[in-house]
Amino acid sequence: MTTFVLFGGTGDLAKRKIIPALYSAFVNGRLDADFRFIGAARERLEDQEYRQRVADSIAQYAAKVSGGSPEKLAAFLDLTHYAKIDARIPEDFNTLKASLRTSETHATLFYLATGPDIFIPVVEQLSLHGLVEGNARVVVEKPLGRDAQSAREINQALRRYLQENQIYRIDHYLGKEMVQNLLALRFANSFLEPLWNRKWIQDVQISISEQVGVESRGDFYDHTGALRDMVQNHLLQLVSIVAMEPPVNANPDAIRDEKVKVLRALHKFTADEVSKKTVRGQYRAGAVDGKPVIGYQAEPGVPQASRTETFVAIRAEIDNWRWAGVPFYLRTGKRMASRSAEITINFKPIPYSIFGQSQGPMRSNRLVISLQPEESVQLFMKAKEPGEGIRLSDVALNLDFAEVSNSRRVESYERLLLDAMHGDLTLFVRDDELSAAWEWVDPIMLAWQNDSEGLKSYIAGSWGPAAASYLLAQHGAAWGEEYVES
Ligand code: BG6
Repeated sequence: MTTFVLFGGTGDLAKRKIIPALYSAFVNGRLDADFRFIGAARERLEDQEYRQRVADSIAQYAAKVSGGSPEKLAAFLDLTHYAKIDARIPEDFNTLKASLRTSETHATLFYLATGPDIFIPVVEQLSLHGLVEGNARVVVEKPLGRDAQSAREINQALRRYLQENQIYRIDHYLGKEMVQNLLALRFANSFLEPLWNRKWIQDVQISISEQVGVESRGDFYDHTGALRDMVQNHLLQLVSIVAMEPPVNANPDAIRDEKVKVLRALHKFTADEVSKKTVRGQYRAGAVDGKPVIGYQAEPGVPQASRTETFVAIRAEIDNWRWAGVPFYLRTGKRMASRSAEITINFKPIPYSIFGQSQGPMRSNRLVISLQPEESVQLFMKAKEPGEGIRLSDVALNLDFAEVSNSRRVESYERLLLDAMHGDLTLFVRDDELSAAWEWVDPIMLAWQNDSEGLKSYIAGSWGPAAASYLLAQHGAAWGEEYVES
């Protein structure tokens, strides 16, 4: 049996992601028979009032869970309880302890969906109350620190009370179906591996574009920015999986051992390199999907003269034998033209075209792994168009997972919560990965702080500042959407 204790149980993340994920797991029979859910927060609420909030968030965010029904919802609410806990009030933890006692010998998962300033006080109290012994695990949400130093401090503090294998640092991108599929693609097929290196690959592009702005998180976002919010975690996790060496087996630490080597091999920029290899931008008013939207500086909670970036593009490099000289172009931004998360492997061009120039410029082969909105793998190659003579066109071998499999799609939070309940750490970030990622990001943040002129603006609904196109164009490359097919 698992008891799931959610700190930050009345917060935004709880409402939007965690409660819907738990409900979906429940409806699909993925939770233990004796599962119990305790929401915890500072507010004073009765179980019944909390259940109403849980029901509201399910109605809003999980209404479409297949198999859901009023009876299932009622059964889920029966398992739901509330504990009023203020991290600064030790007595509050006695009450929690009393309610956990009834389920002793069982696994307890504490999920800290709170600001990082609360992590340590909560974990300290859990430890003082003897609640993190045995089968207890703690899930911590990002942001884990603001830089390498603060991340190190958080890790050290967590490690005072917990073993590393009790700490589940969540990065929800790792729970996306296609991220795991990337492991399968790379390490369960033989044909890609001989090509997966500097000899055959021209560049790698990883792009996560969003149409949303900062939503209701203006204040938080303004202290964070796109580099910390998306690059340090989600994008670098994708880089590490694309670029890692084959692990010795599929155990969590074998995989994480290889990922961390990639993060350590990322070339750290000097201030001069930062100015040449990074672009940062901030959106101004524009239109997304034809609807007018305000600029970043007019968003609630954002200061009018904010210099925080909402867009980042980087030409990263990995200093090792497999990847030396292969650019990894990373890009992410809010209020961009479309929502997508894609990894593109651009292969080198053919050495010489026997078809001459009449066919126009030959775009080389590419493998596109799409994480969202669709889940697909496409291998683009040149083929002859049917008919007379030879006319080449770009065609895709298309593996669309919605077409090839009817299996239920599991949302990343649901997958990761179940993994944590089952004690599987594979898709969680280890402390050394976190540190290595911050150590690469730190010099970029520092250089940006000293260069107030470097922030470009872009129109909401566009693909970001022109400088991001130039970053690639100067090396003869282009972002996926910039190619005009011949
Ligand atoms: C979160 C960021 O980690 O990821 C958000 O804090 C961002 O700013 C979100 O919107 C994107 O996640 P997804 O799964 O919608 O691509």
